[in-house]
Amino acid sequence: MGEIKTFAIIGDPVKHSLSPVMHNAAFQELGLNYFYVAFRVPPDSLRESMEGIRALGIKGVNVTIPHKISVLDYLDELGKSARMIGAVNTVKNENGRLLGFNTDGRGALKALEEKVGDIDGIPVLLLGAGGAARAIAFSLAQSGAELTISNRTFSKAEDLADSIENEIETKVNRVPLEREKLKRAIDQGDVLINATSVGMHPNENKTLVTSDMMHSDLVVKDIVYKPIKTRFLKEADKVGADTIDGLSMLVHQGAKSFEIWTDQEAPIGVMREAIEEAMESE
Ligand code: ATR
Repeated sequence: MGEIKTFAIIGDPVKHSLSPVMHNAAFQELGLNYFYVAFRVPPDSLRESMEGIRALGIKGVNVTIPHKISVLDYLDELGKSARMIGAVNTVKNENGRLLGFNTDGRGALKALEEKVGDIDGIPVLLLGAGGAARAIAFSLAQSGAELTISNRTFSKAEDLADSIENEIETKVNRVPLEREKLKRAIDQGDVLINATSVGMHPNENKTLVTSDMMHSDLVVKDIVYKPIKTRFLKEADKVGADTIDGLSMLVHQGAKSFEIWTDQEAPIGVMREAIEEAMESE
């Protein structure tokens, strides 16, 4: 057995996180003597927790709600995506230097590329302008997608589109989250992504888009993974569109974190199976 290393997720709440199951399965699969634990860290303990990570030599952490932005104050260096997005979900402890990354957007992109191939020049309509949408939007724009953003609070869609245009030389379209306007944008799109929390358990019957607004040539992706088959994806099934569930983003963002920490390729299949098993037994 090699050196023992510890990894963790910090957040609040964190009890239901699937990251420990996913990463421990991956460590085991590769025969690594590494362990991944969950720590509930309320906001007023974040500073001490980050000092603790250094003091205890925890090699890497995932950061989740509500710390993804506030953690930036306690890091020594940021990767390019984290800097642009302004949020961190992955920290690597390199001999006491804490380096921050954001793998949410790249995880979503990877899940999409598995179905679509190169996203460069592909029209994508993204629903949402919150934290998750922001990470995905930057990754899509960086990869050359023809991006349109829609959000219930339209000013947030405008702000996100503006901030992408300021960082990257690209044009980002915006549409209000209104049925007819949305339908027109979907007609012109190849990819439709729900990056809002709509449809998440216990509001499983909710969707922002119904099948009559979709077409069969679409690739439809949801970031909600509880339930795995959301109403949004069921609506896509009805018109024969291709779908990508929220688990694939979860697994791919985890895989990117894993690769940042270990410099080894993540066993994606094993990670997904571990999560599915854990969800079934919940
Ligand atoms: P996260 O970090 O998970 O993205 P968030 O930052 O709170 O969470 O963002 C939630 C997203 O879901 C936002 O785009 C939000 O729209 P608003 O910006 O208008 O709040 C969207 N959302 C949540 N509930 C919604 C609803 N019932 N209808 C439409 N959009 C909703």
